[in-house]
Amino acid sequence: MGENILVLDEGTTSTRAMLFAPSGKCLGSHSAELTQHYPGPGLVEHDANEIWKRTLECAHAMVREAGGADRIAAIGITNQRETIVFWDKTTGEPLAPAIVWQDRRSAAMCRAWRDAGEEPGVQARTGLLLDPYFSGTKIAWAMQHWPQLKGVGDRLAIGTIESWLVWKLIGGLHITDATNASRTLLMGLGSGGWSDGLLEMFSAPRDALPEIVDCAGKFGTTKLFGGEIPICGLAGDQQAATIGQACLERGDTKATYGTGAFVLTNAGTAPPSSRNRLLATVLWQLGGRRTYAIEGSVFVAGSLVQWLRDSVQLIEKAQDTEPLARSVKDNGGVYLVPALSGLGAPWWEPEARAAISGLSFAATRAHIVRAALEAMAHQSHDLKTAFAADGADWSRLRVDGGMVTNDWIAQDLADILAIPVDRPDFAETTALGAAMLAGIGCGMFGGLEDAAKMRGAGLTFEPKLDTESRKARLTGWRQAVLSVVTPAK
Ligand code: G3P
Repeated sequence: MGENILVLDEGTTSTRAMLFAPSGKCLGSHSAELTQHYPGPGLVEHDANEIWKRTLECAHAMVREAGGADRIAAIGITNQRETIVFWDKTTGEPLAPAIVWQDRRSAAMCRAWRDAGEEPGVQARTGLLLDPYFSGTKIAWAMQHWPQLKGVGDRLAIGTIESWLVWKLIGGLHITDATNASRTLLMGLGSGGWSDGLLEMFSAPRDALPEIVDCAGKFGTTKLFGGEIPICGLAGDQQAATIGQACLERGDTKATYGTGAFVLTNAGTAPPSSRNRLLATVLWQLGGRRTYAIEGSVFVAGSLVQWLRDSVQLIEKAQDTEPLARSVKDNGGVYLVPALSGLGAPWWEPEARAAISGLSFAATRAHIVRAALEAMAHQSHDLKTAFAADGADWSRLRVDGGMVTNDWIAQDLADILAIPVDRPDFAETTALGAAMLAGIGCGMFGGLEDAAKMRGAGLTFEPKLDTESRKARLTGWRQAVLSVVTPAK
């Protein structure tokens, strides 16, 4: 058996293959960008074949660099969650575009279900809300609008990205892990199985769905790399990052600032329920036993910087944001509410749109960029308030993701949240979490505590901002965010 772990980390904007030693040392990485398709306002699609091809190319390159399949003990897969793929079981070809988690096409259906009073029952069963974010609503829309899905009858396969990749890697194995399944709106949070009532509500044919499995185990073997490599770890990327940050005790909390920002607090072994518009979700399932998390999902984080660079052309590169933010003494009264694809937790306003407020002739490019970066701490503060109201306040926060390599943002988070913020030196905690799970699945580690030794050292940012300035920032943000959500909120 090989000694290292290959991780396939399929995110929203790029896909990667990374190699880890059992010590946690990252030995190499290959990545490829993914094309984002925006066929209309609020619509976001991916080409599942492109995802597969790019992932396979990265994996091949990584296996070659590792010295061949014999040097690899196991594969761990982690993925953008909720994005849903439809394919033909006979040909293995996609039948339609993959509908991405950011896509809002099912907003009207969600509104109708909510108006019909369905949300409390759905939340009690799944831990989720009736928002276009979740796969079930996308499946319902697709089954209604894409006749080819019904046309193939029982040849239809539906799955999230890890299911799609496993199907392609192993050739016909249809599985999903419990963390990804818990994001579909189709799984009972307490039972860990597909719920007949929910399958009916979202028009999801049971035979098209994968079998729900643990996050670690010997799921099958791929022969695509010139030798046999077992697939031993599976988890949605936010759950993988929580594991990679070693949030193993109840109350441990991490926030990942990637395309979006996702905060997960370990909530223990009983399914939690939120009274403050947060989500309850599976954190991991091992040996058939589930540990749960409370989650706050913010849809726009790093994608805001991308938008400032590509669409508004206010900056040339993401790295310009830190010196620009530092070049002004404060935001000059400018606030940016990044509702570019609606607002997620705790607002859940799919139709809210972004706003920049407080502009005067004194406002400069630097103020707008600073307001964009400050929005990360402001949105996180809204989540912290909701978590606290749910009895799950954070005493410190472990952060990761591309945005917090920016020291200014990490410090601003500590200042506005008024708690210490811990940032690991190795920022790829999502991939690390998938490596930990694959290591458990192939028997390299005895369990999560054992696997957690893969996590390295880090840096802590202590809060420094004075109370008055902090209060002013939060008041300014509150006014700005209330201007983009409906008055009832
Ligand atoms: O729920 C969506 C999330 O999994 C996307 O993650 O890393 O692509 O921003 P990321």
